[in-house]
Amino acid sequence: MDIKINKKEIIKIINSVIDKDLPIISNLANISRVLYEGFENVSWAGFYLTLRDEQILYLGPYQGPLACTMIPFTKGVCGEAARSKKTILVDDVHKFKGHIACSSLTNSELVSPIIKDNKVLGVIDLDSNNLGNFTNDDAKLLEEIAIIISNLF
Ligand code: SME
Repeated sequence: MDIKINKKEIIKIINSVIDKDLPIISNLANISRVLYEGFENVSWAGFYLTLRDEQILYLGPYQGPLACTMIPFTKGVCGEAARSKKTILVDDVHKFKGHIACSSLTNSELVSPIIKDNKVLGVIDLDSNNLGNFTNDDAKLLEEIAIIISNLF
């Protein structure tokens, strides 16, 4: 299905693709495409999930180039978001200590944790080849999306 998404419609479209009767993985797969299409200049959009009772993020559904499969909470922007339970907006990944370069073309990144009952279930990761691609409004929007997704678990 071909979709063109305006950023203002992202929440509406995410809610319309969600089917609560489906396994989480199917919902996240379609949501990753909505994120990829809906935010501007995204090179990679997807999920890392905790899956087991350990402080490791495993690659989940995504859109974009091949990515690293495992990220400990101690590493990378994703790990930092999971560890701090906070959204991390990085304008220039080359200045972020410990950034994990899955693609050498990535320049900026936005990551929000997915939290339920105070437990980190995973993170949503958006990458861009543009420097400073993501805004504070994007961060707020991604946090809103993370809350919707936490209710699917
Ligand atoms: N750059 C991320 C790793 C995941 S990839 O960007 C898809 C990080 O530093 O956590």
